[in-house]
Amino acid sequence: MKGLILSGGSGSRLRPITFTNAKQLIPVANKPILFRVIENIRDAGITEIGIVIGNTGQQIRDAVGRGGRWGVNITYIEQDQPLGLAHAVKISQDFLGDERFVMFLGDNVIEGGISPLIAQFETSEWNSQIVLTRIEDPRQYGVAELGDDGRIVRLVEKPKEPPSDLALVGIYMFDHHIFEATNAITPSWRGELEITDAIQWLIENGHTVHPYVHRGWWIDTGKREDMLEANDLVLEEIDYYVEGYVDRDSQVGRRVRVQRGAEIINSVVRGPSIIGEDARIVNSYVGPFTSIGHNVVIENSEIEHSMVLENSRIHNIGARIQDSLIGRNVTINRSPIKPKAHKMTLGDNSQVGIL
Ligand code: DAU
Repeated sequence: MKGLILSGGSGSRLRPITFTNAKQLIPVANKPILFRVIENIRDAGITEIGIVIGNTGQQIRDAVGRGGRWGVNITYIEQDQPLGLAHAVKISQDFLGDERFVMFLGDNVIEGGISPLIAQFETSEWNSQIVLTRIEDPRQYGVAELGDDGRIVRLVEKPKEPPSDLALVGIYMFDHHIFEATNAITPSWRGELEITDAIQWLIENGHTVHPYVHRGWWIDTGKREDMLEANDLVLEEIDYYVEGYVDRDSQVGRRVRVQRGAEIINSVVRGPSIIGEDARIVNSYVGPFTSIGHNVVIENSEIEHSMVLENSRIHNIGARIQDSLIGRNVTINRSPIKPKAHKMTLGDNSQVGIL
């Protein structure tokens, strides 16, 4: 089987973290979502992976490379315009050939990975398998209606009145019949070739589409306003692992990962949390559900339930920082310069809460 990851689409300014254009590269627990997707596919035994890229393609190429780091081969497939998920499949036909494949949206992650699903599909007679999950308000997603026998009756994209609470998760498995479907359908009201329409075409034309209902968590970071919640879910799975240095005066909890080159000096770190490569935590407290990114320095400060991305610095902050998203290359410091005032340089869509 082959893998196809969709990381095209136009650059998105994901709020509240607006510093990156490729939403697939936003890190969750210090690892970009796209890397988690590649690992999920690799762990299912697939080594030939195509990545569809759009106008953020260079960023994706720079971050992922040729795949050697994961033991996979990456082929980049350029999509001139984001004309839809089914369009992305269509332009990938040369890469996919006649093989069965899994298509994964580059900004989606599910609990537990996809190995059992792939194994099931690989040996089945099904032409396609889709992943569904129950959510309270599925209006922003593709939605499936199942019959009493558990089979799919119909699929609708972003319905105003959803026929069920079963949303389509961004993970799909297909055989070559999908190309007949993507050639047969026409663009939707939003001008895109919808994968939901292509799957509906398969069903209407006598092909078997198996619905799998996923029960663990699911993150669609492309949608999530609350990156912290996504981060919490992934941090829940962290085990104690110290590759960096912890001095004798520090306490590091059981569910803390201290990555390579990181130093914890005279500090307390409570898990679940992760301290990134070459980060320095000095005379500080890092509380549960915190991701400290690579090369970050936290000195004489307290922080919990927060994400701090690469190369940021937090010095001498008396009040505890909590529930915060701090981007890359940010400096937060106590300023000795008069007048005594809050002095800030904040990017677009920033939100600051001051005592
Ligand atoms: O997240 C699950 C949902 O994903 C499903 O429930 C929907 O049925 C499905 O249509 C899709 O909806 P979205 O509107 O959320 O898709 P989005 O435009 O966010 O694109 C998802 C990923 O695919 C994203 O990583 C960008 C990439 N993409 C998107 C388009 C439209 C491409 O690579 N090429 C494209 O043309």
